[in-house]
Amino acid sequence: MSFSIKQSALTMDVSSSILHKRSPSIRSSFSPSLNLENNTNKRAFISVSKPLHISSIESCCFHKEKKPVIHCKAYEADKSPSSSAAEAEGKSETAQRVKIGIYFATWWALNVVFNIYNKKVLNVYPFPWLTSTLSLACGSLMMLVSWATRIAETPKIDIEFLKALFPVAVAHTIGHVAATVSMSKVAVSFTHIIKSSEPAFSVIVSRFLLRETFPPAVYLSLLPIIGGCGLAALTELNFNMTGFMGAMISNLAFVFRNIFSKKGMKGNAVSGMNYYACLCMLSLVILTPFAIAMEGPHMWAVGWKEAVSLIGPQFIWWVAAQSIFYHLYNQVSYMSLDQISPLTFSIGNTMKRISVIVSSIIIFQTPVQPINALGAAIAILGTFLYSQSFNKRLFHRPESHKLSLLQAKA
Ligand code: 3PG
Repeated sequence: MSFSIKQSALTMDVSSSILHKRSPSIRSSFSPSLNLENNTNKRAFISVSKPLHISSIESCCFHKEKKPVIHCKAYEADKSPSSSAAEAEGKSETAQRVKIGIYFATWWALNVVFNIYNKKVLNVYPFPWLTSTLSLACGSLMMLVSWATRIAETPKIDIEFLKALFPVAVAHTIGHVAATVSMSKVAVSFTHIIKSSEPAFSVIVSRFLLRETFPPAVYLSLLPIIGGCGLAALTELNFNMTGFMGAMISNLAFVFRNIFSKKGMKGNAVSGMNYYACLCMLSLVILTPFAIAMEGPHMWAVGWKEAVSLIGPQFIWWVAAQSIFYHLYNQVSYMSLDQISPLTFSIGNTMKRISVIVSSIIIFQTPVQPINALGAAIAILGTFLYSQSFNKRLFHRPESHKLSLLQAKA
């Protein structure tokens, strides 16, 4: 038998009355697994769908001091409960790891390909406002086709959903175009080194705007992030202020995107993939007039002729690749958010930056001084420390604080 007990967001206080009511019908034994979803519209839940044995949920992480709230002693008589429990637990953990591994590998690979093609295009066609718009247009088209052909389920959205999405889309648009402007001016690796400092922006915004306080370990972890990024910036051979500021603005915008996104999505039942699709379409509407004002069709046409004369007709495939891979990597990352915890996502994002930094340095043969590489390594180490210290705090605070911590976390 399998069932799940859903609780309101991040409240882990399992109601013993519900469990006791249901316990007579529990035939096989079970093991609760805790899953803290990043998206606040999802509910934290205790899944008991696995055919395992457990005599109490005392070991469940948040209430060690409490007495066991449930005893379930029923299990298949011909099997040792502990061995079948361990076996099923092992299988489930392995399956989860494989799933997360596949998500991460896909996300990183798509992101690396996007970054390579994006830079190849920008090197010969330096119109970041247009290329940013094309990425969003391509994603919007792909999703409209997916909905029309029923490859993806069409989301049911209303005006309230769009109102909540609007500030998220504004922040997404600013973050996207600022990162692309940055990459048009500096090496891909440098943009991503600066972008690895996003947690520092998250803490600063949460501290001063949301009045959230953090434990000393979180603040301390910002030192290597800020110091490492500073060292990398000071020793960057091809430093450019517009490139640097673009990455910094992108960091700030994405912190606001995450905060608005978590606040605005409460109670909506749109999947990660469709949420990103709607975000992409709204961002396209917002960005298009600005792209025309900043660059414009005349400059785009002249630049296009030059790029094609330099690269050949295949240049159009480079543009197509950067647009398609931009959409795909974002789609996979939003789909991952449906599946993994904020901590796992945050670590995955840091690993993604390492993949992009290393691969772009190799492919574009970016000159790197040892001191510059040291700065990048310190910054990335700081991001790991930040994730760890944030996570420890998250799981040792009263329940009422967990939601606000998750909301503040980039
Ligand atoms: C963009 O163009 O939106 C940025 O490259 C996004 O960067 P990120 O998803 O790696 O933060």
